[in-house]
Amino acid sequence: MRKRIVAGNWKMNTDKSSAIALAEAVKNQLVSVPSNTEVVLCVPFVHISEVKRVLDGSSIKTGAQNCYTQPSGAYTGEVSAPMLRSYGVEYVILGHSERREYFKESNAELAQKVKIALENNLIPIFCVGEVKEERQAGVHISVVERQLEESLFHLSAEHFFKIVIAYEPVWAIGTGLTATTAQAQEMHNAVRQMIAKKYSSDIAERISILYGGSCKPENARELFACADVDGGLIGGASLKASDFVAIVNSF
Ligand code: 13P
Repeated sequence: MRKRIVAGNWKMNTDKSSAIALAEAVKNQLVSVPSNTEVVLCVPFVHISEVKRVLDGSSIKTGAQNCYTQPSGAYTGEVSAPMLRSYGVEYVILGHSERREYFKESNAELAQKVKIALENNLIPIFCVGEVKEERQAGVHISVVERQLEESLFHLSAEHFFKIVIAYEPVWAIGTGLTATTAQAQEMHNAVRQMIAKKYSSDIAERISILYGGSCKPENARELFACADVDGGLIGGASLKASDFVAIVNSF
């Protein structure tokens, strides 16, 4: 059975006290985690050690939202994968559409980030997804295929197997527009078929593919019920503990 994952992406939100309060609220309200389900909080770098301290003793994992391509050196302002690992971080979001758009991260740069994350035992939550115009033009599946091919499909099966994929249609992020279950299932199934073709159907069946984009308590249950949707990457709704916990309990 594939691992189910619900990851919160806090993005650039919270300050020190509200980050601690939010992590505490999630920990306290999440009385039990559904079976075979991993819960992850991907928080701003500066809050990692405080959030990790709050989550210690719970099964909730700590994640980051980015890392740099190099392990160390003269890269003012960047944060490396070895640094994250030294704080006990287990997951890192890579290739989020906001990083692709505002920070011009290319598929080739993301391939380097995936490499260094894996070398440091971080699990990449690798985001793919099309913009509105690409969906309207009917090229959404080939756009996602290209993202996978250029950033991930050079990996050995052993390394690829460690990746979590998140399908986040860009037009659904923070807009209140959610992919329909048919749209989500179509893409998740297409991604699984791409993996089967490149690697094997066994690997394709075992990779977790999350949905992200205006996922909330009201729609999580129907999205998670799709055969190829293994959980969610949650933005706005992860900033309210009760909503995030309700989403975790939607399996
Ligand atoms: P929203 O849930 O706010 O649409 O954000 C989704 C997202 O970008 C998660 O990474």
